[in-house]
Amino acid sequence: MQALHPELDGWQPRLAQLAAQAVADQGPDGAHDLNHFERVWRNAQALLAHHDQADPLVVLAACYLHDLVNVPKDDPRRSIASRLSAELASERLAALGFPADKLAAVAHAIEAHSFSAAIPATTLEARIVQDADRLDGLGAVGLARMFYIAGRMGSALAHGSDPLALDRPLDDKSYSLDHIDAKLARLPDMMQTDAGRRLAAQRLAILTDFRSAFAAEWTGIPHVAA
Ligand SMILES: [Fe+2]
Repeated sequence: MQALHPELDGWQPRLAQLAAQAVADQGPDGAHDLNHFERVWRNAQALLAHHDQADPLVVLAACYLHDLVNVPKDDPRRSIASRLSAELASERLAALGFPADKLAAVAHAIEAHSFSAAIPATTLEARIVQDADRLDGLGAVGLARMFYIAGRMGSALAHGSDPLALDRPLDDKSYSLDHIDAKLARLPDMMQTDAGRRLAAQRLAILTDFRSAFAAEWTGIPHVAA
């Protein structure tokens, strides 16, 4: 996808370089590598096409730098990770000569993107970045990331006899498959833009189809109720 404005073409490689350096410093994480930031920016461009009043440079910077400080899901510092990312991004951007009047907007979009921070997105740019990041948790790539993250935390693929949690509470810390119903299925309703909501619903359908197929194979019952 082409960048939306010539100014973006100049900044994109520099922002990608900052993100790549942070990834290299933090060690391998296939769910939060440079490819994730590229996909989030691509998602954001699809949303920006519906919102020409948004500042694309603010969105671009926040997409590349939103996980600058990457804290694992099971780390107690997780809820402040987006604030730490926002602070570090502001420092790094200022050092690169990023427009000073846009720094606060980038920082807010980074701070507000995170689930665990629970900071309301008060600007259009922040809403776009939040939707763009959440879209990468859905669809085929989101599914791959879900199992990858669960594997790093030592979760099982699914509950042995009740993979769809028909007769037990959901427990996505123990069972990766539970994460689809426990969190990902709620994302379309939590989207902040109409275009994000439409895309999220399409990508969620991939996960719910997968969940049914998985349960049928796992239990040996072809049409187990979802
Ligand atoms: Fe992210």
